[in-house]
Amino acid sequence: MRLHLSTWPEIETYLESSRAILIPIGSTEQHGPNGLIGTDALCPEIIAAATEEKTELLVGPTFSVGIAQHHLAFPGSMTLRPSTMIAAMKDWTDSLIRHGFERIFWLNGHGGNTATIQAAFAEIYSERSLKVGGKDNLPDLRLKAVNWWELPGIMDVCQREFPTGHGMHATASEVAVTYAAYPDQVRKVEMTPKIAPVGSFRDAGHYRAIFPDGRIGSDPAQATIEKGQTIIEAASESLSRAYRTFADED
Ligand code: NI
Repeated sequence: MRLHLSTWPEIETYLESSRAILIPIGSTEQHGPNGLIGTDALCPEIIAAATEEKTELLVGPTFSVGIAQHHLAFPGSMTLRPSTMIAAMKDWTDSLIRHGFERIFWLNGHGGNTATIQAAFAEIYSERSLKVGGKDNLPDLRLKAVNWWELPGIMDVCQREFPTGHGMHATASEVAVTYAAYPDQVRKVEMTPKIAPVGSFRDAGHYRAIFPDGRIGSDPAQATIEKGQTIIEAASESLSRAYRTFADED
């Protein structure tokens, strides 16, 4: 079930039996020579859609622009400042709370979002903690963030599919997941060097200077539709269990 493909009476009915929702959250940023700019937003969206077939799940709109200042030297990349993202996540959360949602599972597709997501959670919880008298009159809000590749068992699957050159950015697995969902978007590009360099970076100019084609440590030319399907199947199984536990816990 998807929020944006539902009517308000359907959501009203849904809320009689569940207070949980999943929000895919990602980024809009370069993903090397053969990866789609939307990769980090598409992957959690694709895995959430596959999970819908396995368990009762309400999927909200994708929070598709995140923390990507370091990618801005590559055309097409977009970013939020951390302060903007925290404010936006708070408004999304408050809107959902207004209707009775109490459990929000953010399925993340971009490692660069992690610190800001945790800061947003702290900001949201702080408002409740600082309220005089505690949270007595407030719903029991629970927020959870999981990187899709850190769902139980999934990194093992990714490493098995790509024993070398999986990488850290524009990974073989994330590119494969998007190719499986959008087979007409497969790109054939020769990578030079075959496996990209690794290292740390500061701002956008520095990033492009040390990672000239955008990749970090990866050889995403290995990405195939079939390998992407394998990862999506495993990730949706794992997400189904993780989401059920979160949605149903006391
Ligand atoms: Ni990515």
